[in-house]
Amino acid sequence: MNKEKSSFYKEHPRTCSPDDFWGQVKRTVNGAPVSQDQIDMIVDAVVAGLELSPKDTLLDLCCGNGALSSLLFKHCKGGVGVDFSEYLISVANTNFAVPPDQTYILQDVVEFCKNPVTPHKFSKMVCYGSFPFIEHERAESLLGLLKSNFPNLERVFIGNCPDKELMAEFYGDRHFEPGTENDPDSPIGIWRTQEEFASLANRFGWQVAIHKMPSQYYAAHYRYDVILSR
Ligand SMILES: C[S@@+](CC[C@H](N)C(=O)[O-])C[C@H]1O[C@@H](n2cnc3c(N)ncnc32)[C@H](O)[C@@H]1O
Repeated sequence: MNKEKSSFYKEHPRTCSPDDFWGQVKRTVNGAPVSQDQIDMIVDAVVAGLELSPKDTLLDLCCGNGALSSLLFKHCKGGVGVDFSEYLISVANTNFAVPPDQTYILQDVVEFCKNPVTPHKFSKMVCYGSFPFIEHERAESLLGLLKSNFPNLERVFIGNCPDKELMAEFYGDRHFEPGTENDPDSPIGIWRTQEEFASLANRFGWQVAIHKMPSQYYAAHYRYDVILSR
């Protein structure tokens, strides 16, 4: 696979203001950053889903600019964020890094997980709003690597996954190219049904629970979260 592939998130954030943290990761509605109560709902869901506590160290895969990571790190001992966007990691390092407890690494997440730094220290992992952008085979291999290379990982939260069952409803009258649902480079990435996701994760021995956000969450009508445990 081409590790150096270009990505929307390597270029788009540079077009936003340096402090438009939610705009940089497209956490927007009609072009405007979502409100604080939407962010609070995300943090609450991840903290509850992971049972995050002060004894945990969190690995945030595809952490973007660290704006969300830093809110999650407050609920535990700290952790590491990994992302392959040079610009977003520079924003994270400028605004959110608190070394040595909260640090950010520029790397492709699958490559990181093949040869992780201090894998034993991570007890929880989050990948929010990003898993659909990872190519099929690499996403599969990531689920296996998390199981084999992180012996103390108890729970994994894969958040904001687009539900293929709800794709037609989401698009309504708007046209979409057939095949969009399988394209990691499309604006929403790969759509999976809850059953498809569960059987993918089951193959690597993960227990799977599906979580739905409260209906007030702006993307609740077409997205779900996946919580993996051993
Ligand atoms: C929508 S943003 C979400 C960022 C952050 N998790 C959040 O929720 O605020 C998607 C992120 O995934 C990152 N990403 C996508 N594929 C990646 C890969 N293979 N390795 C590392 N980062 C990746 C992008 O650079 C981008 O920062």
